Amino acid sequence: MMNHYNIKKPFRHFLDLAALTKEEAREIIEKAKKLKTAATEEGHGKGFIHKDRPLTDKSLAMVFEKPSTRTRVSFEMSMHQLGGTAIVLNGHDMQLGRGETIADTAQVLSGFVDAIMFRADNHDSLLEMAKYATIPVINALTDFSHPCQVMADVLTFEEHHGSIKGKKIAWSGDGNNVAVSWIHAAILFDCELVLACPKEFSPSNEVMQWARDNKGKVTLTQDPKEAARDADCIITDTWVSMGDKDEEKRIAILSPYQVNGSLVRLSHKDSLFMHCLPAHRGEEVTDEVIDGPHSVIWDEAENRLHIQKSILMWCFGK
Ligand code: CP
Repeated sequence: MMNHYNIKKPFRHFLDLAALTKEEAREIIEKAKKLKTAATEEGHGKGFIHKDRPLTDKSLAMVFEKPSTRTRVSFEMSMHQLGGTAIVLNGHDMQLGRGETIADTAQVLSGFVDAIMFRADNHDSLLEMAKYATIPVINALTDFSHPCQVMADVLTFEEHHGSIKGKKIAWSGDGNNVAVSWIHAAILFDCELVLACPKEFSPSNEVMQWARDNKGKVTLTQDPKEAARDADCIITDTWVSMGDKDEEKRIAILSPYQVNGSLVRLSHKDSLFMHCLPAHRGEEVTDEVIDGPHSVIWDEAENRLHIQKSILMWCFGK
């Protein structure tokens, strides 16, 4: 029988935006804005620690089955800035990589640390971790979704243009895990989302049906110009994600969805360009756009830190 001394139930997993209420999603964004203001006051270094140390007795295991730059550094720095501790665990270096089950790993980690951040090859592995862990589990990207990223994107949009409610967000390219989390976000934040994706790489019917069932203003087209026209924000992502094997085919099919100057010129004159990074310049986006005046990619990357802190605090009920 498990007897993990540090269990404080009820805790909250952060597995998908679809599992949040509108109120919870808004609470996380507003808390992130406050945490960012406090952390970026003049004179603060990146090693700053919030004076009330809200996670002072908390620890986070960060389990990676795939590479990461932004997610790894932002979560580790988040725990530092909140007064807690983070441990990085690469799946291949763990017994997980030698066949120890996710269920057993979840229960063992639950005895050592207070939360698990998991970047998993398969979404089912994340759900398995959450089922057996007795501590909060955070989705740090799976093949299905990337909710932490899209919360940082919403924060970035609102920093530049105020409330995202009613704004037109355009997605051009692969209807991948980030696109799925944007579909969830469109319902949570009441914005319009137009996804331009080729039929081979469109979000699943199940996800689109979920958007319809939830009365979202989410539409799918194969025409990137239709998506970009008068958009307040244009977003894309790499055409060949981690784990994709059909690189040449993907590039050929997705080429018409490149975000370039002529596509951006169809959007609102003050529109934003976002990309979760890493980018493949010259493929899904041109240098002109990613380095141009519409691009907010560096704010978007930095905001991973500020939103991560808010998500961690929400999981712990702080
Ligand atoms: N956008 C994102 O998740 O970046 P990393 O893969 O570097 O973590």
